[in-house]
Amino acid sequence: MSQPKLSILVTGSNQGLGFEAARHLSKLSHVHLFVCGRDANRVQEAIEKLRKEEGCEAEIDSVVMDIADDTSIHAAVVDVDKKLGGAALDVLVNNAAVALENSIERDGLRTVFENTFAVNAFGTAITAEAFLPLLKRSTVGPRIVNVGSGGGSCTNSSKAGYTVNLMVYKSSKSALNSITISLALANPEVHVVVLCPGRNVTRMNTYGGGVDPSEGSKIIVDYALEQKGTSPGFYNAQGELPW
Ligand SMILES: NC(=O)c1ccc[n+]([C@@H]2O[C@H](COP(=O)([O-])OP(=O)(O)OC[C@H]3O[C@@H](n4cnc5c(N)ncnc54)[C@H](OP(=O)(O)O)[C@@H]3O)[C@@H](O)[C@H]2O)c1
Repeated sequence: MSQPKLSILVTGSNQGLGFEAARHLSKLSHVHLFVCGRDANRVQEAIEKLRKEEGCEAEIDSVVMDIADDTSIHAAVVDVDKKLGGAALDVLVNNAAVALENSIERDGLRTVFENTFAVNAFGTAITAEAFLPLLKRSTVGPRIVNVGSGGGSCTNSSKAGYTVNLMVYKSSKSALNSITISLALANPEVHVVVLCPGRNVTRMNTYGGGVDPSEGSKIIVDYALEQKGTSPGFYNAQGELPW
């Protein structure tokens, strides 16, 4: 029996973990995949790369969206609605994020806080809110999969010996945890989780170690394809994480 169609939008999927999640999803014939980024050319290049790969079976569409810009978010919702032909968006993967700690010396702490929260916290929350009407049309169980970080766990990162002290990035991911909880409680029909993909070799960590993002992105794919865990919930590949 063929599987029901599943429409999935992954923000920031022109590169890194988002692209690798899109790559896994592109192999599935029942998936309608929205590859999303803030630069139209880079989104198109990513789609061409996916389409050239062996086993690319998904229906793939593009979306241009800068999640730090409300006009761009609302235009993207209209575009996705049109491309879905009035059908539901089943899964929104909020993957796009920035880590700007390296700019503190140049730009100052306030600017770096503002620019980081504009994407990782406010941008993600506003994107989720904007896509809720499309998600609530889903008959397979709408899902929001937020890509967070283990560093967003106040419980874990307050333990003695925790070494990663990125105040701005970590607090933006703690805010994302709180946003995940609020979204889940306000929208009980939508399954909302936040995931830590672990350390991955991507631009975000200046390709400085961790696993290949084709590996790290598997948890994102798993939670996008199936309603896993509780809503709200916070998970990594090993299981549940404390908030
Ligand atoms: N890499 C790790 O070790 C690690 C660990 C834990 C959690 N994470 C999380 O995993 C997710 C993916 O990160 P990554 O490692 O793949 O980083 P990355 O390679 O830097 O990719 C980030 C993606 O987000 C997009 N993005 C940034 N700002 C945006 C905006 N304003 N609007 C739309 N898209 C925007 C980027 O687009 P552009 O290409 O246009 O900049 C890019 O596609 C993030 O949520 C990150 O916090 C990563």
